[in-house]
Amino acid sequence: MKTDFLIVGSGIAGLNFALKIAKYGKVIIVTKKEIMESNTNLAQGGIAAVTQKGDSVQLHIKDTLTVGSGLSNKRIVKLLAEQGPEAIKSLLSFGVSFDKENDELHLTTEGGHSMARVLHSGDSTGREIEQAMTESVRENKDIEVFEDCFAIDLLLNQAECIGAKILDIKKRDVCDIFARATILATGGVGYIYQNTTNPEIATGDGIAMALRAGAKLEDMEFVQFHPTTLNKLGAPHFLISEALRGEGAILVNEAGKRFMLAYDSMGELAPRDIIARTIFNELKNGAVYLDIRHKGKSFVLDRFPMIHQECLKYDLDITEDLIPVSPAAHYLCGGIKTNEYGQTTIANLLAFGECTCTGVHGANRLASNSLLESVVFSSLGAQKAKNYLKNKVKTTSQKETVFSNIETQELNYLKADLRKAMWDYVGIIRNNEQMQLMLSKLEKLNTRLVTIGKNGVNTRFLELKNMTTVANLITKAAQTRKESRGTHYRTDYPATDDKNWLKHIRFQQLEERLDVCFS
Ligand code: SIN
Repeated sequence: MKTDFLIVGSGIAGLNFALKIAKYGKVIIVTKKEIMESNTNLAQGGIAAVTQKGDSVQLHIKDTLTVGSGLSNKRIVKLLAEQGPEAIKSLLSFGVSFDKENDELHLTTEGGHSMARVLHSGDSTGREIEQAMTESVRENKDIEVFEDCFAIDLLLNQAECIGAKILDIKKRDVCDIFARATILATGGVGYIYQNTTNPEIATGDGIAMALRAGAKLEDMEFVQFHPTTLNKLGAPHFLISEALRGEGAILVNEAGKRFMLAYDSMGELAPRDIIARTIFNELKNGAVYLDIRHKGKSFVLDRFPMIHQECLKYDLDITEDLIPVSPAAHYLCGGIKTNEYGQTTIANLLAFGECTCTGVHGANRLASNSLLESVVFSSLGAQKAKNYLKNKVKTTSQKETVFSNIETQELNYLKADLRKAMWDYVGIIRNNEQMQLMLSKLEKLNTRLVTIGKNGVNTRFLELKNMTTVANLITKAAQTRKESRGTHYRTDYPATDDKNWLKHIRFQQLEERLDVCFS
């Protein structure tokens, strides 16, 4: 099969790129579940952008750089903040609706923001965006969507990307799709951790594929842990949006005492890494709760209807009860190295969204900058991507991969074991000894996967293989960085070391060897 642009992934980054580039060429989107199933769909808080008087691009830049802890790329952050208003206009043009107050967009705040600049749709901003974009994609005759199709690997011809090998999950059939340009928009990696806000699909597929193809990756040690997820036995770690704290919710300990101000003058609105570590430590002495009861029932029902409904399923009424919370893996700040147009280090391979490292987030991401990053850079990328139409579609014959009905019981066990170990050994607080244990575990797991995959592949197997690859990269990067900075905290190196570590860790697979360099 052939197309002009092959996009892997159907979150905000993939859909926005598709809608913008479809004016110029034919687009195929492949997605491993249904189109709406993505991390975008779960985003609650909102999208940050400068849209009102009193705020400024300079302030948005300053807040992003402060939270990024010295490792954000200033030029790219400036571009992000400057392009913010345009990105919002573009979302409005697709029919996305944000909450308003007195005819003006309603703005809320979140950790690390010096101003209220977060636009939102109640507490389901991601779903609103995903729905509007999905409708536009479905109406567009130049975009074909293949659901239940898993991208196994990128296809290469003399170091340039010419498409991807796809497993049609329902037909159990593997085919090659060749394209003038291939775009990875596969989202994050949160599901490699036992406790996460991410859905089951967040297994780092795009990052693992890009590594195997020889692309450069950066900042893989910086995994952001969201401070407040539901911490109730039998309930998933459902996100309790930072917007609750933005609207005045406070954190209290088992004794009912507010504690955040003792650790940071921004209190409940300090950057996420600080709050996540503080809660993690408080939890050693008893439960931690978020309290929004003082805002009143009608305010809470109006502003956070989805969170209220979801918590009711677990016997918790947030208008009357304290919400037990704990941190969970949420977002990967690093990923496939790209420039502002999504260009990777492989010719004709682009990447957008959470699977990338554009340089915006550095060592920590400012809340609600991720949806913005996805829209801004996939829009800039689409402007430039017209040039790929000059490429020939190359259809060289490729190594065959076959489907195999691998028994799931062992794969499920291995996956659960990997997720628990990542949480225990490479989680919020890290040290060398535990990361070494993790690396030994990953080596054994890898050996076992080579044996299991000898006769062919299925989705569960491919996901576990990708999870193992990404876990290995995160652990190796975290072990290499001998300091604490942003989301990366080590008890054996608790201080930030600007003299030696104001630099990025970059990985590239060179045949059998993982090359590590600094930039
Ligand atoms: C949240 O609603 O707290 C999450 C927003 C984000 O991750 O930026």
